[in-house]
Amino acid sequence: KKTLKDLDVKGKKVFCRVDFNVPMSEGKVTDDTRIKAALPTIEYLSNHGAITILASHLGRPKGEVVEELRLDPVAERLSDLIEKEVVKTDAVYGNEVNEAISQVSEGDIILIENVRFEAGEEKNGEDLVKAFANMADYYVNDAFGAAHRAHASTTGVAEKLPAAAGFLMEKEIEVLGKALENPERPFTAIIGGAKVKDKINVIDHLLDKVDNLIIGGGLAYTFVKAQGYEVGKSLLEEDKIELAKEFMKKAEDKGVNFILPVDVIVADDFSETANTKEVGIDQIPADWEALDIGTETRKKYAQVVADSKLIIWNGPMGVFEMEAFANGTKAVADALATTEGYTVIGGGDSAAAVEKFDLSDKMDHVSTGGGASLEFMEGKVLPGVEALSDK
Ligand code: 3PG
Repeated sequence: KKTLKDLDVKGKKVFCRVDFNVPMSEGKVTDDTRIKAALPTIEYLSNHGAITILASHLGRPKGEVVEELRLDPVAERLSDLIEKEVVKTDAVYGNEVNEAISQVSEGDIILIENVRFEAGEEKNGEDLVKAFANMADYYVNDAFGAAHRAHASTTGVAEKLPAAAGFLMEKEIEVLGKALENPERPFTAIIGGAKVKDKINVIDHLLDKVDNLIIGGGLAYTFVKAQGYEVGKSLLEEDKIELAKEFMKKAEDKGVNFILPVDVIVADDFSETANTKEVGIDQIPADWEALDIGTETRKKYAQVVADSKLIIWNGPMGVFEMEAFANGTKAVADALATTEGYTVIGGGDSAAAVEKFDLSDKMDHVSTGGGASLEFMEGKVLPGVEALSDK
């Protein structure tokens, strides 16, 4: 795979796909992590005399112009961060964009409009692919977060122009790839989140790789039920109980420690103000629900993390959005922040949790991918990455 440094970009037009799909509220960017993560590539291009044409999606406008999903607030934030004007166009392609490109100089940066305003983006439509390819001499993909999508700006255009991975894309693939292919041991994965359904493939794949698999969050209770305990009103996927048993069997066969909660915080209502108590895993009352892992479980998980050389974390341990049920997730975040092992946060909710506890800086790698990191950890080849390797 080519990287950015293999391209001689001076005086060249570079179509650079980034993932600026960032949280916004009232016309302002509320979390600029993804913008900051793309700066090394953008600054490299600019400093090396390229004309950079940035492209991103924002939200899911489904081929129509949605005013609230325009990229102007993103252009503003980017411009503040790089201390340089960013030319934002209201169109994705066409006269306005061509005009803008013809007027800028080497080192300048253009941000075209939300590519998902065009129906051709998600369809990887030939016309849009051509329009993108005609804008530039080179294609650079730095949008790891969107690499699991085979769209016009992530795969289509990669086939039409000399293409390379940006620095963020390179780093994400290197860190996640190394973790899965050549892990330092003991290697521990922590999988949380609400549903077994969403984590089937990742659990299955990781069972072939790890020494310890720690389970937390809502999905844990289907496993707890499979162990033979009652889970009261906790989240339960009846149709996944058999699968949970199979996973535990697979772990045993492979010599993987499959680690489940031994105590939990139960609540009599799904609310911040519910009555709560801590109980052993065999003591969940029939009309209460478990919403976080308990004290003993936290200690146990923290010990495993402390003893590991490599830890990958995807998915919260409880309903961390509510203060009353955030302690389990916080304990795991703290354990990762203090371990000497190499820590990888697999994006999405766990990245949000680490950010909320102000511990992002203490992690070795916080992935900018949500769905993309998950699919990567499932062992899938991401189309956006594959499109670059073909070159
Ligand atoms: C993400 O936020 O995970 C990526 O930007 C992909 O967004 P999408 O799920 O709308 O394709």
